[in-house]
Amino acid sequence: MMKIAIDGTAASGKGTLARKLADKYGFVHLDTGLLYRKVAKELIKQNKNSSESLKEYDYEIAKDLDFLELRKEDLRTEEIAKLASLIATQSKLREILDLKQKQFVDESKNKFSGCILDGRDIGTKILPNADFKFFIDASVEIRAKRRLLEKNISFLHENDEKCMLQSLIKEMKARDSLDSTRVVAPLVPAKDAHFIDTSLISADELLLKVVKIIEGK
Ligand code: DC
Repeated sequence: MMKIAIDGTAASGKGTLARKLADKYGFVHLDTGLLYRKVAKELIKQNKNSSESLKEYDYEIAKDLDFLELRKEDLRTEEIAKLASLIATQSKLREILDLKQKQFVDESKNKFSGCILDGRDIGTKILPNADFKFFIDASVEIRAKRRLLEKNISFLHENDEKCMLQSLIKEMKARDSLDSTRVVAPLVPAKDAHFIDTSLISADELLLKVVKIIEGK
């Protein structure tokens, strides 16, 4: 089975790339951020908003995660993303989720000719022997603009839009910093990853670049 690892910053285009590649080649895809987001969502439901309060019971949430259910849930809020990034610094939680991801790859072997995982530590930790590794990034200003567009909000005043953009930039910088400076499995490009900056290219142009690399053109 071909294995493709895609890592990168939030809103860099890595998720869209992973989905498009999976569609193109008929590979299975796992957005590993959803695992961390699901645990964060369950914690928020219990009014726990810090990674310090993780208890044995919370690890059970991670152990019982159902991959198919993850896609159906709304896990894409900034609140969930922020807590996901915080709890992702905890080594015990990462151990459990690492196992889950490896289990997913193993179970896919007999059903698919390839698998694509996207996240923060796929090329370095989860799939160190991946056939292809990509690290996707873009300037924080561009990434925040993409997030704002996804929200599809119509602003009455230009200033409100600027304010929201500034706050998204601030949140993203904080998350980038937490993700890339944590002690366990930080967000860093694998030595053998293809680094692509998507600041000035579209999702389709990114797909084209990656397909060329995979197909050796
Ligand atoms: O990709 P995302 O924005 O949905 O991820 C949310 C958070 O989860 C991210 O800020 C850090 C954490 N995460 C991680 O530590 N390792 C992964 N492989 C995927 C996500």
